[in-house]
Amino acid sequence: MKVLIVYYSTYGHVQRMAEAVAEGVREVDGAEAVLRRVPETLPDDVIAKMGAVEAQQAMAHVPICTVEELAEADAVVFGTPTRFGNMCGQMRQFLDATGQLWAQGALVGKVGSVFTSSATQHGGQESTILSFHITLLHHGFVLVGLPYAFQGQMGIDEITGGSPYGASTIAGGSGERMPSENELDGARFQGKHVAEIAKKLVG
Ligand SMILES: Cc1cc2nc3c(=O)[nH]c(=O)nc-3n(C[C@H](O)[C@H](O)[C@H](O)COP(=O)(O)O)c2cc1C
Repeated sequence: MKVLIVYYSTYGHVQRMAEAVAEGVREVDGAEAVLRRVPETLPDDVIAKMGAVEAQQAMAHVPICTVEELAEADAVVFGTPTRFGNMCGQMRQFLDATGQLWAQGALVGKVGSVFTSSATQHGGQESTILSFHITLLHHGFVLVGLPYAFQGQMGIDEITGGSPYGASTIAGGSGERMPSENELDGARFQGKHVAEIAKKLVG
């Protein structure tokens, strides 16, 4: 049973969350976690101006995803940073290349799930995940979020990401904050939860 974790990350926050999702997947017997990045669409000089060259190099070992890999997976967990309250353009471009899979119904009945990162606490984490769900529903994915069984989203004693829609992290205005233990726990929970449900569906 294969769980594909496909993400885009500029500075490494979504990447760190993706690794935690993979850890959660691997807690389920017989579940394989496959980590992939979507292709970059920005020119090198823009990446340099964004101060992301080093972070991109640190992710270079993670293979680039092909759309065919979506069809080969039993479940797909998508990770995207928030861009103006929506998924990033790199992820949008990747998904816009899945028309043939849609025409074939190749993703119908697979488990789909989304996690995210934003700079600020109320900068659009929920809108990013919920608007992402629309595309997944068009493909026929069975949506899975982060239920309140993950108790880490109940606390108000620390600033934290995580909602019933999916795991998330708050990166800070200059990306200075990396995912907290609670946020990573949420990502692990989501990965495990997705794998457990996919296992039941695959039979
Ligand atoms: C063009 C652009 C738009 C952004 N829009 C938002 C936003 O709407 N809300 C927010 O909180 N952060 C926003 N951010 C900050 C990113 O979400 C943040 O850099 C990201 O979550 C860090 O994750 P990463 O290191 O995995 O890329 C934006 C960043 C860029 C470059």
